[in-house]
Amino acid sequence: MFSFTIFMMKNFATLILLALFLFILQNGNRIEAFPDRIISSSSINQPYRTSYHFQPPKNWMNDPNAPMYYKGVYHLFYQHNPYAATFGDRIVWAHSVSYDLINWIHLNNAIEPSEPFDINSCWSGSATILEGGEKPFILYTGIDENKHQVQNLAIPKNASDPFLREWIKLPQNPVMKPPIGVELNNFRDPSTAWLGNDGKWRVVVGAQNGDQGKVILYHSKDFVDWKVDSRPFFATDNTGVCECPDFFPVLIKGENGVDTSFDHQDPNFVRHVMKISYLSRLHDYYFLGNYNVFGDNENFVPDIKFTGTSSDLRYDYGKFYASKSFFDYAKNRRILWGWVNESDSTQDDIQKGWAGIQSIPRQIWLDKSGKRLVQWPIEEIEKLHDKQVSISKENLLSGSTLQVSGIIASQVDVEVVFEISEVESAEWLDPKGVDPQILCSKKEDGSRSGKIGPFGLLALASEDLREQTSVFFQIYKAPNRYVGLMCSDQSRSSLRDDLDKTTYGTFFDIDPTQKTISLRTLIDHSIVESFGDEGRICITSRVYPSLAIDKNAHLFVFNNGIQTMQISKLNAWSMKQAQIGYEGNISCV
Ligand code: FRU
Repeated sequence: MFSFTIFMMKNFATLILLALFLFILQNGNRIEAFPDRIISSSSINQPYRTSYHFQPPKNWMNDPNAPMYYKGVYHLFYQHNPYAATFGDRIVWAHSVSYDLINWIHLNNAIEPSEPFDINSCWSGSATILEGGEKPFILYTGIDENKHQVQNLAIPKNASDPFLREWIKLPQNPVMKPPIGVELNNFRDPSTAWLGNDGKWRVVVGAQNGDQGKVILYHSKDFVDWKVDSRPFFATDNTGVCECPDFFPVLIKGENGVDTSFDHQDPNFVRHVMKISYLSRLHDYYFLGNYNVFGDNENFVPDIKFTGTSSDLRYDYGKFYASKSFFDYAKNRRILWGWVNESDSTQDDIQKGWAGIQSIPRQIWLDKSGKRLVQWPIEEIEKLHDKQVSISKENLLSGSTLQVSGIIASQVDVEVVFEISEVESAEWLDPKGVDPQILCSKKEDGSRSGKIGPFGLLALASEDLREQTSVFFQIYKAPNRYVGLMCSDQSRSSLRDDLDKTTYGTFFDIDPTQKTISLRTLIDHSIVESFGDEGRICITSRVYPSLAIDKNAHLFVFNNGIQTMQISKLNAWSMKQAQIGYEGNISCV
């Protein structure tokens, strides 16, 4: 009997081992997946790490680089200092992969400084997939041995590896050096390339000369030998350097995206977007306009020139920089990533052991008005939806606050639709010459009363509301139109006073026949990422509450306007933790 039991136990153990082995085989590639952040005692020291926004295991991250979809896998490379939680002088390209843009596997660094043409850092760049989706190329900026900026090419060592783990730098590097009229240390961030009707590839690179920001066009027949076009493709005065230019077509109708190489000559189907990250302002501005090709003369002409005022179009009116989009041909959509920097001090970052997160990937398309882009969290994020609570047809009287209970308010996806009745009764404001950001900050926590609004959400709030990040709207009657003001007010986001608590805001047009206004906010411990008016206006902020942490965070809806507001519907979901796996020599905070 005894020996039979031993025999059974041995076989049972063998079966378990076999099952484990099969599991590892199936999930493949030596990946250990385990939760990156769980609300437990371990998070007490890391209350600001996110649950479902992308961030590296530790240390510094800035720009998203070369996002792409390749052989069933999404890739995100990013600017990373592997040695510290601060920016450094040996920046590498870190690399992570995903099947759904939500759950990630961190791999070894893809590109590191090693050669005279990139020995002082490997800065931002983009991917282009050639030959029918079989041959990915990366173009990136190298800081060379003389600290000049040059552009280099890298290709996968093994293009049949869907994870594209290893990259080889081409012997022809550098393939672009600063041309005449461009400063040697302000020539960087090549875009994704596109193919013209003449069979030549084009790419744009950001640059500066004096105060002028430039976007320089290059052509190539073979992707290796590049010729500069001496006329700037696009330029702006008094802006300083153009960082991370992103140039792509958008369809005039519908939400689908198109490949960057989509037939560029047909103005009936597409418009073009030029996005520039202006270092002097640390914001991402975009221009809608025409891509003109007349013989050998090519340029981009925006519908509206850069004015340097609050009326310029931005992807996000909060923290969002050095963004990059890519065409996801698996789902025919264009996806945008943006770097969201910290609002605490460098000393705090060193203590946390990390700095920098990425926005939720956003699908982007042209708004029906043709005047701006719409951005919306990718649908995959709904995979993380957990417990749901809903409210419908509930009146919010003037001065009232309603708690959304039953969810984990520190990691939540919430969407609320407010009914606007009697828009005609809105108070008067001529927005001309008014800085919306200043107007938003005058409202402090949104408590100054207007007729229609302020109304919105109080995110990451403590029970006593001493801490709160309020994201809200106010509606105004302006000359010949109605305008909305959307704000994100960080002034009471934390009892800590050593933080950047700038309030953000912008104006937008309200269609008077529109009876509702929506707000979707993704809250994730230290980020409040908001999509107003169905994604026409985005504001992202970083906050570091000291009371409203984990289970002590609360979510409220409020109305401080004179007019009663109706919540026509509200849905909020606690968000599950994204699954993070590691492969290679990666250690965590
Ligand atoms: C934008 C940027 C890029 C540069 C990179 C360096 O944030 O300054 O222009 O390539 O970061 O990390």
